[in-house]
Amino acid sequence: MKKENSASSGFELQLTADGSHTLYVPALEEHYHSVNGAVQESRHVFIEAGLHQLHQERITVFEVGFGTGLNAFLTLLDAGEQGIKVLYRAVEQYPLPFDMIRRLNYGDIVAPGNDASFLSLHEAEWERDVPLSDGFVLHKMQGDLNRCEFPPGIDLVYFDAFAPDKQPEVWNQPLFERLYEAMAPEGILTTYCAKGSVRRMMQAAGFKVERIPGPPGKREMLRARKSGKNKGVV
Ligand SMILES: C[S@@+](CC[C@H](N)C(=O)[O-])C[C@H]1O[C@@H](n2cnc3c(N)ncnc32)[C@H](O)[C@@H]1O
Repeated sequence: MKKENSASSGFELQLTADGSHTLYVPALEEHYHSVNGAVQESRHVFIEAGLHQLHQERITVFEVGFGTGLNAFLTLLDAGEQGIKVLYRAVEQYPLPFDMIRRLNYGDIVAPGNDASFLSLHEAEWERDVPLSDGFVLHKMQGDLNRCEFPPGIDLVYFDAFAPDKQPEVWNQPLFERLYEAMAPEGILTTYCAKGSVRRMMQAAGFKVERIPGPPGKREMLRARKSGKNKGVV
């Protein structure tokens, strides 16, 4: 894996195995994405295991950790191709500096020649609905996941916080219970995480949880559905 230093944030820009960038956070000893392929992981965990499992024409997505905007970018493009209208809400406690965003190669890798569309996600004002295309409205909220208000009727949660051993405070029982309540009846929550303790918290909140194959380099991941209430089952 090649490394480039970023003077702006102390983070390192790194190339992952599929040629797309990720960020490394030295203070946490943690990456934003899988080093086996950032775009590949995001497509697998959030687009294929999440977005592609829904069948509505209009959905509300809630993302935990907006970060580089990669999940939002893939959703914008994929939903656009499918003609799905999306209200995309994301919470982020530590927005990345724009000079770091400009260096990410997601525009080139995912949609060559469409860098402007990637950057538009980051240029969008915070704390308000910003239409970015015919069917995609972005609403970024700066703040702590544990204190933020969720939009009502969430159809799809992208749970993309740092790993539970790095950031245990955002993987907690009350949070999964609040998410469960805020979700639409057939809502789906998807995450790269496969930890048993996380699965049990989701189940205790009422979700029906599946362990499904993870992206390359990861045997399993979790997908939770609100339907089929099974509170307490482990
Ligand atoms: C694993 S990174 C993934 C980010 C993003 N989904 C991406 O693809 O770039 C986790 C993100 O969660 C953010 N974060 C950490 N703690 C948070 C908190 N308490 N509330 C909201 N966001 C948080 C981090 O700043 C980081 O951007």
